[in-house]
Amino acid sequence: MSSSSSSKSLSLTNLSLFTPLHLSFLFLHLTILVTGDLPPPYVPLDSIALDCGSSSQIFVNGRQWTADINSKVALLDQDSPTTNLTANGASTSSVPYYTARVSLSQFTYTFPVTTTGPKFVRLHFNPASYTGFNRSKASFSVTTGRYTFLSNFSGFHYTDPRGERGGYAREFILNVEDEQKNLSITFTPSPHVADAYAFINGIEIVSMPTNLYYSTAGDDPGPYDFDREFYLPLENKTALEIMYRVNVGGGEITPPYDTGMFRSWLSDVDYLTDARPSAFEYNDTIQLQYNNHTRYAAPDVLYRTARAMANNSTVNEKYNLTWEFPVHSRFTYLVRLHFCQFIPIILQKGDLVFKIYIANQTAENYADIISWADGYGVPIYKDYEVMMDARGNEEIQNLSIALHPIQSTKFFDAMLNGAEIFKLSNSDNLAGPNPDAYPDSPFSNTPSATSTKPKHSRRRTVAIIVLLFRALLSSLFYFS
Ligand SMILES: *[C@@H]1O[C@H](CO)[C@@H](O)[C@H](O)[C@H]1NC(C)=O
Ligand SMILES: *[C@@H]1O[C@H](CO)[C@@H](O)[C@H](O)[C@H]1NC(C)=O
Ligand SMILES: *[C@@H]1O[C@H](CO)[C@@H](O)[C@H](O)[C@H]1NC(C)=O
Ligand SMILES: *[C@@H]1O[C@H](CO)[C@@H](O)[C@H](O)[C@H]1NC(C)=O
Ligand SMILES: *[C@@H]1O[C@H](CO)[C@@H](O)[C@H](O)[C@H]1NC(C)=O
Ligand SMILES: *[C@@H]1O[C@H](CO)[C@@H](O)[C@H](O)[C@H]1NC(C)=O
Repeated sequence: MSSSSSSKSLSLTNLSLFTPLHLSFLFLHLTILVTGDLPPPYVPLDSIALDCGSSSQIFVNGRQWTADINSKVALLDQDSPTTNLTANGASTSSVPYYTARVSLSQFTYTFPVTTTGPKFVRLHFNPASYTGFNRSKASFSVTTGRYTFLSNFSGFHYTDPRGERGGYAREFILNVEDEQKNLSITFTPSPHVADAYAFINGIEIVSMPTNLYYSTAGDDPGPYDFDREFYLPLENKTALEIMYRVNVGGGEITPPYDTGMFRSWLSDVDYLTDARPSAFEYNDTIQLQYNNHTRYAAPDVLYRTARAMANNSTVNEKYNLTWEFPVHSRFTYLVRLHFCQFIPIILQKGDLVFKIYIANQTAENYADIISWADGYGVPIYKDYEVMMDARGNEEIQNLSIALHPIQSTKFFDAMLNGAEIFKLSNSDNLAGPNPDAYPDSPFSNTPSATSTKPKHSRRRTVAIIVLLFRALLSSLFYFS
């Protein structure tokens, strides 16, 4: 006990501060180190990458992209006339953004899948000009079975802040229940826009572990509603759209370095709004011990990096380590926080505890990573559900995640390794408000440097409905 203050100063001198530049540098280093000893990633039974409008197969970024012309992995309905075109100005190497399928009438792709169960559906769009089509007429909806993913969508309300990529992905998750094992995706030009057309550049269908995001019966109670004191499982009938997926305290993780599902993870720096300053933490030698729920939750490198607070308790007392993510109003969001304690002097329960606020509501009064994970170097995640009500007419609001240390512990600090934010379907709809009404941005896979933040900071009614789960510490299964 008497050693606690000396341990603390030891830890503080070990904390180093990094600029984003340092960060990406370090991350590059970590990536190289980590790829050598990656455990076998998850192998999805269905892993389709369709290059729409293309007639040749191509291998890019660790993936085989299949041409949609005469494809066996995707059947395009023959009744509706579609055109395969190249995006003017795009580079031939920028698969799948170089070619597109474009149509003035509705068209449907049907993907025969191997299994029922949850799938990622990634839609790739390049809002370029396509010969014979007027860009201002791009306006369409995307539906799959009962779900509406996008509506009145034009693709080009958004421009990449880095101006580098010709396209971007919107990622959805749904559960395939069809016993025929078919997943159909329909593109419909907006009926109220004269000469409206629909386009799509690439589609990925990737399966995932059944319990990765959905609650499974038996061992998984689902998110906990702390207001009403009951558990609310995330049901198979809910479809999701990923809004943000960030590697906190680390750099971007590109699809080939995910745990086999080709997810993209961005650096958190663009979303940090209060970190004065924060510390980048990493341990690139720690042997992580996964349990069977966290096995594929995120790549190793995410759990080996984190962001903590400043190295001065007086300063830490006065602020919340805060990230803000613009989201559409009137939807419920699933917030998943990833943790792993790897700092060598934080080994015991109670060594580092902190509060977690989500959308200004208390999500955790006493977050203790070692206690939750039941160990050091054990990855864990926690899920929360937050309803973002509209107050006034704000179409976009900031969903915040804020951490604040608790005094009565060895260390006066807080830390986070990663975060994911999903929009949950509301009456089978995931489409946000009409993008014509304001600048839309596909939040997934893109830094939010230019994304819309609410101009008014009026207090909104934000009901945190639900909280926590999947600690499931009783059934730890260690991989060695
Ligand atoms: C495209 O449509 C807009 C709006 O209808 C129109 O002003 C413009 O002249 C059209 N451009 C071309 C090349 O047809
Ligand atoms: C990483 O964790 C290991 C314990 O697994 C520890 O021995 C080592 O000192 C840690 N390294 C850093 C840089 O914190
Ligand atoms: C911590 O910050 C306060 C306020 O900025 C400053 O007065 C104090 O000297 C700092 N303490 C240390 C140990 O750096
Ligand atoms: C941290 O955020 C919570 C929730 O918004 C707020 O109640 C609290 O005052 C904040 N603390 C500090 C030190 O800013
Ligand atoms: C799409 O746009 C039309 C016309 O502007 C509007 O009536 C309709 O409500 C919009 N739909 C959605 C889902 O925004
Ligand atoms: C949370 O608090 C901040 C600071 O007081 C405020 O700007 C923001 O609008 C609040 N957000 C919500 C969701 O109430």
